[in-house]
Amino acid sequence: MKMKELLLVLSCVLSVSADALHKDLHIDGCSDFDGEFMFGLDGEELAYTDFNKQTLVYPQPPFIDPMRYEEGAYELAVAEQQTCKHNLQAFGKGMKDFPLERDAPSAVMIYTRDEVEVGEKNTLICHVTGFYPAPVNVSWTKNGEKVTEGTSINVPYLNKDGSFTQISRLQFTPQLGDIYSCAVEHLALPQPTTKIYEVEASQSAPGVGPAVFCGVGLTVGLLGVAAGTFFLIKGNECS
Ligand SMILES: *[C@@H]1O[C@H](CO)[C@@H](O)[C@H](O)[C@H]1NC(C)=O
Repeated sequence: MKMKELLLVLSCVLSVSADALHKDLHIDGCSDFDGEFMFGLDGEELAYTDFNKQTLVYPQPPFIDPMRYEEGAYELAVAEQQTCKHNLQAFGKGMKDFPLERDAPSAVMIYTRDEVEVGEKNTLICHVTGFYPAPVNVSWTKNGEKVTEGTSINVPYLNKDGSFTQISRLQFTPQLGDIYSCAVEHLALPQPTTKIYEVEASQSAPGVGPAVFCGVGLTVGLLGVAAGTFFLIKGNECS
């Protein structure tokens, strides 16, 4: 027993020291119709380049200690994109337009950011992962009609295995019976993968489950005590 505990403690210490290593990430990539330039740290996106708005975007919420990259980071990104596109053309010619590897998303999930309260603002999240190459297109519907207002999508995030993750968000106010969907398009998907989210009554009445379990548990427990007492008295009477 002691040995086991010791091993457990040891393995904790080992994993802690392994966790203390940080992972710095920089992606600089391009395709014929898209480009990406981003910085990450420990699995978080610190900054990415918005080539339409011609600026570096810092997507972290303001309560994180602000950090900025040096002046000229955007210009560097633009220059790197030119190099990347140039190389891409050269590789394409050199390798006779090699066929691109294609992996459809391995998982698409839809869920809400906060616990659902009918009538209270919330965010629906469509989490797409395991695809290659980036990006995916995500479109939203509410009760069968296309929604664009209040939607956003982050730039592709590179996973450890070389595939990508993208997260699309839709701001919404849950109303009973409303049905939302997110549809994901990817090069490797013959048709879009769609996930449905329905605002249901049970979600707006949390606490019923635990209360029922507690009630049933208590009842069974009390019955046990009653039966025990009964047999105890019976037993005493006999002797
Ligand atoms: C995403 O949408 C754009 C514009 O409609 C389209 O050109 C592109 O082919 C789409 N990408 C995928 C992977 O379906």
